[in-house]
Amino acid sequence: MRLLLLESALAIVPRKFRDHPTVRNWCKRFGRKPHEAILDVNYHFSILKEKDYPGKWGRPDIVHFTLLYALESPLAKKGLLDVYVHTVEGKLFHVEKGTRLPRGYSRFIGIISKVLRGIDTPRVHPLETDVNELLRSWKEEGYALVLLDEEGERRTDWVGRDKLAVLVGAFAQGPFYQEYSHDERISLWEEPLNTWNVVGEVIAYRERILGLL
Ligand SMILES: C[S@@+](CC[C@H](N)C(=O)[O-])C[C@H]1O[C@@H](n2cnc3c(N)ncnc32)[C@H](O)[C@@H]1O
Repeated sequence: MRLLLLESALAIVPRKFRDHPTVRNWCKRFGRKPHEAILDVNYHFSILKEKDYPGKWGRPDIVHFTLLYALESPLAKKGLLDVYVHTVEGKLFHVEKGTRLPRGYSRFIGIISKVLRGIDTPRVHPLETDVNELLRSWKEEGYALVLLDEEGERRTDWVGRDKLAVLVGAFAQGPFYQEYSHDERISLWEEPLNTWNVVGEVIAYRERILGLL
């Protein structure tokens, strides 16, 4: 199964805020330079208040928790999960199979900061492709694209499909900014869930269908 986290709330602190006291404090605390700083609502709330849509920005924890869960699941350990991350700014990266990400914030942020600046890392690779190009290539390979959305159709008959790509938003609030190519728009439950819960439910269900657990 392919998993694509869409519009992930991951971004480098914009240049105009790099001298902001909250960014200088963050850099001192985590031993990083201002151009390496990642927007994080826990540390940069006053900056995010100035951006027009705080619910989509500054939540690296969402991607961190989701990736920790996904990459250490039995599905991933069996080599049956391939993970891609698209960011709210349109950047895209691929996490190699078999990757174990750091549990600690500081080391996780170090990897993400490099990848967002286009620097390759041993296990996480920036991709030049645009997300719609990526989805088009997946379609050509025969993957069914299932977009998860609380307003989608309530069905579970897709979870066991052979060539399955699951698309999930990795931000805190609101709808997607844009449309993404998909075959089905599916809801798991009547209310919005956290990204890591959504990913967790799908992975756990698929593991059972495949008889891994
Ligand atoms: C925290 S939600 C995004 C915010 C949510 N749209 C809201 O307004 O509260 C993160 C993502 O998880 C997926 N998601 C959340 N709840 C879902 C549900 N009940 N069924 C299917 N997918 C869901 C969607 O892909 C969504 O973009």
